[in-house]
Amino acid sequence: MKMEYNKNKDSPGLCTEISEEGFFLTNILFAASECVPFVKTGGLADVVGALPKSLDSSRFDVRVIIPYYTCIPARYRNFFHYRHHFYMDFSDRQEHVGIMEYEFDGIKFYFVDNEYYFNGATPYGSDLKWDIERFTFFCKAVLAMMPVIGFHPDIIHCHDWQTGLIPVLMHSTFATHPFYQGVKSIMTIHNLRFQGVWDIKTFQKNTSLPDYMFTPDKLEFKKDANMLKGGLVYADYITTVSETYAEEIKTAQYGEQLEGLLYARRASLRGIVNGIDYDVYNPQTDNKIFAQYGIDDVLAGKAENKRRLQEELGLPQDPHKMVIGIISRLTDQKGLNLLGAVFERFIDEHTQFVVIGTGDPGYENMFRYFAGRYPDRVSANICYNDALAHKLYAGADMMLVPSLFEPCGLTQLISLRYGSIPLVRETGGLKDTVQPYNEFELTGTGFTFGPFHSEDFLHAVNYAKSVFFNYRENWDAMVRRGMEQDFSWGSSALQYQGMYEWLLGK
Ligand code: GLC
Repeated sequence: MKMEYNKNKDSPGLCTEISEEGFFLTNILFAASECVPFVKTGGLADVVGALPKSLDSSRFDVRVIIPYYTCIPARYRNFFHYRHHFYMDFSDRQEHVGIMEYEFDGIKFYFVDNEYYFNGATPYGSDLKWDIERFTFFCKAVLAMMPVIGFHPDIIHCHDWQTGLIPVLMHSTFATHPFYQGVKSIMTIHNLRFQGVWDIKTFQKNTSLPDYMFTPDKLEFKKDANMLKGGLVYADYITTVSETYAEEIKTAQYGEQLEGLLYARRASLRGIVNGIDYDVYNPQTDNKIFAQYGIDDVLAGKAENKRRLQEELGLPQDPHKMVIGIISRLTDQKGLNLLGAVFERFIDEHTQFVVIGTGDPGYENMFRYFAGRYPDRVSANICYNDALAHKLYAGADMMLVPSLFEPCGLTQLISLRYGSIPLVRETGGLKDTVQPYNEFELTGTGFTFGPFHSEDFLHAVNYAKSVFFNYRENWDAMVRRGMEQDFSWGSSALQYQGMYEWLLGK
């Protein structure tokens, strides 16, 4: 039976729950700008959606808070419950803060409602200054509303720059608030490239933070203010999404000019690799793919998926062609300039190439151009299409992830689970999760290359092709090895739990 314990005697509404086993639950609040299934632009949303339900619910009460975007599909929004509203000092006025609530998959979600800030067709706009104001508002609203709804977090776990001001505000505006005494914060970096930088004046107007916080050892960053940097300075602990990326970001090559700070905080920084949601990405039950399959019937299963994929995309139906795929945001991070530089040297008559994604117009047009030039070899799907993505994972022979940097990367993990061999650059999470093929020992789960150079990339692609066409048995054995890997959230969730408990001195 569940009992309730009144944790804060001065505020009768504040409760912490006791688990069935009689332990006090540790309360964790995830704060983020996106989360599946409500709103997604990248891997951040997958992690924020999957990790909470992977944590042991008999020890942790994990809740998630994101903005109440009007672009959240009505099929969810219509079922949100109104919880409360109040007015909060923000900038030079009082702003409305509404609180909506919804339970999904056993997890309680909160949504910060303010139509002025969170309307629009996408969660982020093209105007960074406006986004910074919106997420500054979000950070403050999160802290202002927790005492009102009566969920008392032991730890606030913040994700990426949009939530970077939460640890800062916990040490300033909310520092003397009784509710936040002893509450810890964690800042997780999913991508260091985006930091939320704007001029100090604007930040001061929005936040009313004191002058002493805008110095180089705190929020200042080259005469401007930096939201992520604030989070990295003030959070009790910092994590990122793979061990290699945790090392890389302490160097000038990957540190995005915060390497000094990250190095200084190295004792409070670690990498925990992401998992993927094994319920969503399971070729044995996935109803988005043409034919389900497991490790025992993978060859037949993938052959059928390949045939139907070729049919759907209007490519010649030929089981002997090697289908190479890429599913990605089309940005510089993803190494697409390497691909562009050598594309015409690997897209021969034995090869088909399928891309799914949107992003920089230059890359979108590059793929459109290749599709126009090689209509029976290239399919360019310049869109975000989840069902088609699943079909490609199932139907492809190989998936490319030649990233310039990659904090973790999820597509290589999904590819492994679907028996599509990943070809990756040895960086960040790609390096930690794909073991290079060794043709002598017949080990490894994919193909890798080191230097960010188009010839190294091409060499890796050609090597993979030679194994595919000449040593198919070895290829097929590698497909099975990849499928046997475990990249579910299990072991990473245990690491997060250990970190939470250690941070709270449990
Ligand atoms: C970002 C990173 C990606 C990572 C994801 C989730 O999108 O670019 O590498 O997997 O966040 O942590």
